This record gives sequence, C-alpha cells and structure tokens, in this order.
Amino acid sequence: MSATTAHRVAVIGGDGIGPEVTAEALKVVRGAGVIIETTEFDLGGARYLRDGEILSDDTLSQLRAYDAILLGAVGTPEVPPGLIERGLLLRMRFELDLYVNQRPFSGTAPGSSRPHDFVVIRENTEGPYVGEGGVLRKGTPHEVATQGSVNSRMGVERACRYAFEMAMGRRQHLTLVHKTNVLTFAGDLWQRTFNAVAAEFPTVATAYNHVDAACIYFVQDPQRYDVIVTDNLFGDILTDLGGAVSGGIGLASSANLNPARTGPSMFEPVHGSAPDIVGTGKANPVAAILSAALMLDFLGETTAADRIRQACEQPVSGSTSDIGSQIAARVAG
Ligand code: IPM
Ligand code: MN
Repeated sequence: MSATTAHRVAVIGGDGIGPEVTAEALKVVRGAGVIIETTEFDLGGARYLRDGEILSDDTLSQLRAYDAILLGAVGTPEVPPGLIERGLLLRMRFELDLYVNQRPFSGTAPGSSRPHDFVVIRENTEGPYVGEGGVLRKGTPHEVATQGSVNSRMGVERACRYAFEMAMGRRQHLTLVHKTNVLTFAGDLWQRTFNAVAAEFPTVATAYNHVDAACIYFVQDPQRYDVIVTDNLFGDILTDLGGAVSGGIGLASSANLNPARTGPSMFEPVHGSAPDIVGTGKANPVAAILSAALMLDFLGETTAADRIRQACEQPVSGSTSDIGSQIAARVAG
C-alpha cells in the first residue's frame, strides 16, 4: 500500500469514553506517519436519544464506501440495554458480513511466570447471535422462550479457514473450542468442518477443547494456545476471560473482519463505554490504539502496525491523552 494514498476511515467515537480513546488512537496512527482521511459518524446511544437514529439504511450505505471503520464504544445507561448493541454493532457485523472477530492476547497471567501469546478467532455472524427463536404465552406461568444457535457449513468453514491461515503465519497450532459433548448438532457440524479444512493445512497441528475446560486453561495454562477458533457466543465469553488474564480489558483489542473485502472491516476495543469515568482522563486508550494497529494490518500498513504494538509494550502513565501522546511520540519515525 502506498504511503501517499490516504486510507479513508469512518470514525464512530460513540458514547462515554469512546470518543476519548478513539481520538488517541487516531493521534497514534498519524504519529506513525500513516496518511488517513477521516469522517466522523455521530452514532450511539446519545445520537439515538437525540433523534431516534440507531443505524439507518442510508448511513449504512455511506459506511460501505470507506476502507475501514474505527469504533470507540457505544451504549449509555439512559437507553434500554440491547437496543444499540443489536441495532448498531450487530447490524454492522451482519450487514457488512464481518464474519471474523479477531482478538489477540499477550501478557503474563496472574500467578504465572511465563508469558502467553495467542489469538482468538470468533465466528462473528452466526450462532445464538442471529436472533432465531421466540416467545410464547408471554407473561403467563406457562411462558416459553427459545433462542436457537444457527450454524451454517459456509459460515463455519470460512471462520475455520481464516483461523488455519492465521496459524500458518504463526506457530502452526490451532485449537477448536466448542461443547461437542452436549451441543451435538452444532458441535458435529463444527468438528467435521474443522477436520475437513484441516486437511488443507497438513503442517498445522490441531487440538480440541470443550469450552468449560478452555476456561481453566486460559487461567492456568494459556501458553498452550497459538490460535483458537470458536463460535460466536463461546468467543464472546472467552475473550473477556482472555482480556482478564492478559493485563485487563483496558488492553484488549479487536478486529471485526470481512476477509473477502466486499466492504469495510470494523475495529473496536473490547471494552465498553464506561460512563462512570467519562471526562476524567482515566480511560486507558491502549485497547483502542491496539485496535487501530489491527486496522493498519488490514490496510497493508504492517510496519506502522508493528511499531505501534512495540510502543504499547513499554510502560505508559498519566491521563488518557498523556498516554496517547507518549505512544505517538514513540512511533514517530
Ligand atoms: C463484544 C460485546 C458485544 C458482543 C455486545 C456489546 C453485543 O460484548 O463485542 O464482545 O456480545 O459481541
Ligand atoms: Mn463481549
């Protein structure tokens, strides 16, 4: 990618600390010498309270024209939970076909003396997230609710293939995490699909963990992992745990990827909008900065991305903007 061509980035700062950490991420990207052209999109809980828009068809089609979307955090206590998450975040994941959620973890788990370094590839468009199911006899003692997990061969296969390709570029080890002993229908589809894709990557060693056992290994032996592939809900839960054993959620970054590149991919920290600390300068911008580094990887700016990751490994201190400035100064080449 030529350094003289500006990458067009749609910026959704969102709510709470979202705009604060996003501003620092952009400061660092520019500090690393990457030329970006940004457009702010005012979306999130605050926008919804103002005029009712969560994510209109028109806004969505504008977003499609960008090379990438950088998101801070969305959600505000005044809006009922789920509304913005489903209407904005999940809608973007589904409509832009962001079928891989890539979440890297490195650090040393509490009580451990050895560092770990692994990546979770979470399937991002299927599973229990699709909204399948319904409710009957609501409000009566006989109320029934179902919420199915939708798993397509195509959806599972593309997530597995992405994970195998990632493992090829790393330590060539991939673990499937599921619950095949209980979720026999979905688990069987995942296991067979994983095995079929594995045949295309004979040099990648494979393993399987049930998700409950994986929770123990995340805490007690995370060094065993290189790349993990798992379903949408297991991946959601496991990656919070991954953050907790890797220096905290303030460092956890994520990429919502459309590897087929039929539209922009979206990059966001794992943490939420933290309305309790908004405006205090206490928000750690490192997760947003590392998410921007994942964006640069995807835009082909891998040298700048690596420099940013190295800069984030050195100690940082001070306010949100102090930390952003320190890291920006380190990456200036
Ligand atoms: C995440 C978040 C989202 C998810 C919520 C906000 C819908 O927890 O990105 O991990 O469950 O995927
Ligand atoms: Mn989550």
